[in-house]
Amino acid sequence: MKVIITEDYEEMSRKAFEIMVETVKNKPDAVLGLATGTTPLGLYGKMTEDFKANGTSYKNIKTVNLDEYIGLDGSDKNSYASFMRENLFNGLDVDLKNTYIENGSAPDAEKECERYNEVLRGLQQDIQLLGLGSNGHIAFNEPFTPFGTEVHVVKLAESTIRDNARLFDNIKDVPVKAYTMGPKNIMRAKKILVLASGANKADAVYGAVKGEITESLPASILQLHPDCILIADKEAAARL
Ligand code: F6R
Repeated sequence: MKVIITEDYEEMSRKAFEIMVETVKNKPDAVLGLATGTTPLGLYGKMTEDFKANGTSYKNIKTVNLDEYIGLDGSDKNSYASFMRENLFNGLDVDLKNTYIENGSAPDAEKECERYNEVLRGLQQDIQLLGLGSNGHIAFNEPFTPFGTEVHVVKLAESTIRDNARLFDNIKDVPVKAYTMGPKNIMRAKKILVLASGANKADAVYGAVKGEITESLPASILQLHPDCILIADKEAAARL
């Protein structure tokens, strides 16, 4: 794994932007694996600014997102589908028909997992962006998820519900289940770009980079990927 340590969040976002935009320029029909959460917001801001200023085109780009809350329709303001439109897609010329994510309001969860696995089989990510949970989760793969797992339903860990509550009006509104790509879907990406910022990610970063490869810290599987770059600001990298 290649590790880049930056001064702060801004520099982390800039370096991530350089990698992302290079992927898009080299392959205008690339498949981008995308994440939600606070960490990629700086990167997404830079992508939309660059589109406005320089016209880097996403017309033929396809995107696959990691995860979605169960019980929230894609039009719900707290769904990850809405998050992506608001924070990235609406600011680019990407065709929304080419943006894929699990359907949080699908009537049959098992069928929805199968459907999304099928989508992913046809769309290998040229690059997969990841944030890190404070407990070392990637996407919503909580500790002890078997590494061989594909798209599945998860019951979110208490710590994840607490971490995510800030985005909701009330902690009781945070869904308790979600769909997520499994470690296996993530590891199929040609390249993986992991971002981490802030002291609360220091243990997860340490585990991802230097810890034992173990299902108790899902991000540790990334040590097995042939082309993984982790960009951490100095607070998140404090234990390296
Ligand atoms: C989001 C996702 C999560 C987050 C992680 C970090 O799609 O899959 O794994 O990347 O929980 O979240 P933030 O960036 O909010 O600290």
